[in-house]
Amino acid sequence: MCGIVGYTGPRQAYPVILKGLKRLEYRGYDSSGVALLHNGQLNVYKKKGKVADLEEMMIGKSLEATIGIGHTRWATHGEPSDRNAHPHSSKSGRLAMIHNGIIENYALIKQELLNKGYSFTSDTDTEVLLNFIEDIHQHIESGSLEEALRIALKRVSGAYCILLIDQNDPETIIAARKGSPLVIGIGKGEHFLASDASPIIEYTKEVVYVNDYELAIVKPDELILKNLGNEKITPFITKLDMELAAIEKGGYEHFMIKEIFEQPSTIYDCLRGRLDAAAGMIRMAGVDNHIEQLTNANRIMIVACGTSWHAGLVAEYIIEELCRIPVEVEYASEFRYRNPIVNKGDVIIAISQSGETADTLVALEKAKENGAFIFGIVNAVGSSIARLSNAGAYTHAGPEIGVASTKAFTGQLAVLMMVALTIAHHKKTITQERYQALLNELQDIPEKVAAILKNAEALRKMADKYKDASDFLFLGRGYNFPIALEGALKLKEISYIHAEGYPAAEMKHGPIALVDENLPVVFIATNDLYHEKIISNMQEIKARKGKIISIITEGDTTSPKLSHDYFTIPPVDELIAPILTVIPLQLLSYYVGIAKGIDVDKPRNLAKSVTVE
Ligand code: M6R
Repeated sequence: MCGIVGYTGPRQAYPVILKGLKRLEYRGYDSSGVALLHNGQLNVYKKKGKVADLEEMMIGKSLEATIGIGHTRWATHGEPSDRNAHPHSSKSGRLAMIHNGIIENYALIKQELLNKGYSFTSDTDTEVLLNFIEDIHQHIESGSLEEALRIALKRVSGAYCILLIDQNDPETIIAARKGSPLVIGIGKGEHFLASDASPIIEYTKEVVYVNDYELAIVKPDELILKNLGNEKITPFITKLDMELAAIEKGGYEHFMIKEIFEQPSTIYDCLRGRLDAAAGMIRMAGVDNHIEQLTNANRIMIVACGTSWHAGLVAEYIIEELCRIPVEVEYASEFRYRNPIVNKGDVIIAISQSGETADTLVALEKAKENGAFIFGIVNAVGSSIARLSNAGAYTHAGPEIGVASTKAFTGQLAVLMMVALTIAHHKKTITQERYQALLNELQDIPEKVAAILKNAEALRKMADKYKDASDFLFLGRGYNFPIALEGALKLKEISYIHAEGYPAAEMKHGPIALVDENLPVVFIATNDLYHEKIISNMQEIKARKGKIISIITEGDTTSPKLSHDYFTIPPVDELIAPILTVIPLQLLSYYVGIAKGIDVDKPRNLAKSVTVE
């Protein structure tokens, strides 16, 4: 986690850094800080709390500087506090550094430094690494900070993206990356450094994505990239395909609600140029170019975390149904540490909004080393997972800034459905009629999502009614079982209400013990193969006085009779229903969150992109 920003050039660095930190705050927001270098004076300011707290503290401070670095933190080592906030200063005070990641062997290095007489002012691994670099720097003949950094990085294990500045070098930021993202924006006589492109986009569209084990020496007029072996690498310049408006709130109160309401257009963008229902075809270069590999897969393993894992679960149902290929869905964090059997002929589908989730990334690296073919379904263009994949398809949902994933999820579902349909069509495991019917259904989805959003107010009212519940249960069957999990996750994340998602039929094997007159139970009970069965499950809850909230299909006359509250969605094929059923659950969570006064874009303890394991 953590967001990092750096600037060197003719502008005043502080406003660039501050604005950048605000854009990166979704990555962590327990403390923040800046280091500004001016006339040989290195000033470090840091503060517990959000970036706004830092901004307030900076009023009246000396802000003059044309080079600086800034950090917004998600705590790993050491509680959120002023002293654990970044930047950290070296013992001599000459160096300042910010870091995103975890130095796993920091305790060992710390002990070595303690033995040498070092003392530490924070509990962080970052301060240890910085003093380790300084210690090497003070003892090497060349006196080169860059060389000291290279030597230090060869000793450390873990993940890092670091930015380092030296009081005696008024123009240079030295950066290094392994496992945590770093983008460098190339301006005219200036450079911008950040964890993602959002702090850079308004100044330049030309960027370089730094790779693992690379070091960047960045001056206003010069960018040198090297590997840890001190060999120069030619920077590969990419043009950003992103507009500033996409990362601003555009009149909405929160990013989360903006992103929920963007879904008709983000799903449309995802389908656009790929799905042509009139012509009866789907064109996806990443799939078409590897169709034999995908079609002949002995098994598909889906690796992801959180909401992306839920998209993987929906895909399991769809791919097995349509393509008749066995599918396993794995939490990336488990996959990476167990000893999974990955055979030749297996395909791994990686799903990630950010493309930077450490658990997913490392799991994929491991699978790739074992010869697996990786198909990435990623939202963030140019991200690490996108680059690591052998093939893939972007979700095209645009930047997702709210910590709770919403539009990225529906984009993932849309891509997964198109992938499954393409494989099934090629493999002839689907009839032409069913294939065409599903293409037509998918094409109509943006309109149906828009129709659901028109009734958002009903969910606000429901949220007011249930906001004080201490627990929620979400139940669904078949394609909607993963949506029950997703509904529970959303509610937990942004309302802090304990919630559990279960297959509706599994409820009687344990969770039913929780049911009483205080428990809201959300049923996803659209018209499908299981409708009668889920009605029986509702009866079971009703008999125990649980409060039933149901998400149902227009025209269903049975469920309303059993429900305290219900919300209808337009009729849709059961296979595609998850794209619609999740929308009311996103809205319900959002409205409960705001009714409880929670900062839904930055809920406690969370960060958007989990770049630590
Ligand atoms: O960027 P990713 O899709 O790889 O992120 C995975 C999870 O960290 C993410 O989905 C998380 O669960 C969200 N906060 C859910 O809203």
